[in-house]
This record gives sequence, structure tokens and C-alpha cells, in this order.
Amino acid sequence: MMAGDIRVLFVCLGNICRSPTAHGIFQQMAQQHPLGKRIDVDSAGTGAWHVGQPPDPRAIEAAQRHGCDIEPLRARQVLVEDFDHYDYILAMDSANLRELQAMCPAQFGGTLCRFLEFADRSEDVPDPYYGGEDGFDHVYQLCEAASRGLLQRIQQQHG
Ligand code: 4NP
Repeated sequence: MMAGDIRVLFVCLGNICRSPTAHGIFQQMAQQHPLGKRIDVDSAGTGAWHVGQPPDPRAIEAAQRHGCDIEPLRARQVLVEDFDHYDYILAMDSANLRELQAMCPAQFGGTLCRFLEFADRSEDVPDPYYGGEDGFDHVYQLCEAASRGLLQRIQQQHG
């Protein structure tokens, strides 16, 4: 079971491309960090089409090329209860962010924003689903940069 008191949830549309990539990268990075044992990571989709499925094979391969295994992850849909549990709910794009803002209870005291804010970029992680292999490597690079920034923020706030 999850035990950490610093809880991070990555959210995209399908939970099979972008958010599992962020989940795998950030989890691996957190494990190397002194605060790692306090950090719990999960991912979810605003949509339900792929619930129960593993990540897209192209996302699995892109992560594998960087030594990150995301194959065991399974898609789930984001729940309103997630706002009771997570401290950082990080949307991959502005459409996901709007969906989450519409669900967000007024008393939510955590951080809800686009993930790339942590890479100092006011942009979306582009949806790679209908594109080519390159899109998945691009997603990986963006998620890696933002994961580094998120870990620095957590270090500042909880270290
Ligand atoms: P993700 O990519 O949101 O990064 O997981 C997508 C996966 C599936 C679909 C769209 C985006 N879809 O339309 O099924």
C-alpha cells in the first residue's frame, strides 16, 4: 500500500501515453532522491476508454529506451476522491486541466496546474496518440525536464 505523505498524481486524457510516462519517470527519479520514501506517485485519465489497459506500446518502448519500465502500469480514470488524497495533481494539457478544475472541490488545498509549469514552460505536453514515434520521445524529454523541476519544488517545500 501507499505510505508516503507527499502524493503526486499525473493526469492526461487516456492514461496510456503521457501520464504513465510522467509517472514512470518521476517515480524512478524520486526513488533516487532522499525524500523518495515519502513520495507516492500515480497517474489517471480524464477519459475512461482505456481503463485497465497497459500503456500504449509506443510509450512503453520510448520509456524502455531510457531505461524506465512502465509496462506494469494500468490505466484508471481520475476520481473526485483523488482531490482528498493527492497534494500535486498535474495535468498534461490545458484541456485536462479544465476538466480537473471543473471537478475540483472548493476545499482542495493542493497544487493543481499543468505539469510543464515545473519546467518553467507555460505549455502543454502534446498528445502523441495520433502521431509518430518521435512524439513519444518528445513527451519523454518534456516529462523528464518537468520531473526534475517538480522534485526541486518538493525538496524546497518538504526537505
Ligand atoms: P494520453 O493519449 O492522453 O496521453 O494517454 C491519448 C490516449 C488515447 C486517446 C487520446 C489520447 N484516445 O482518444 O483514445
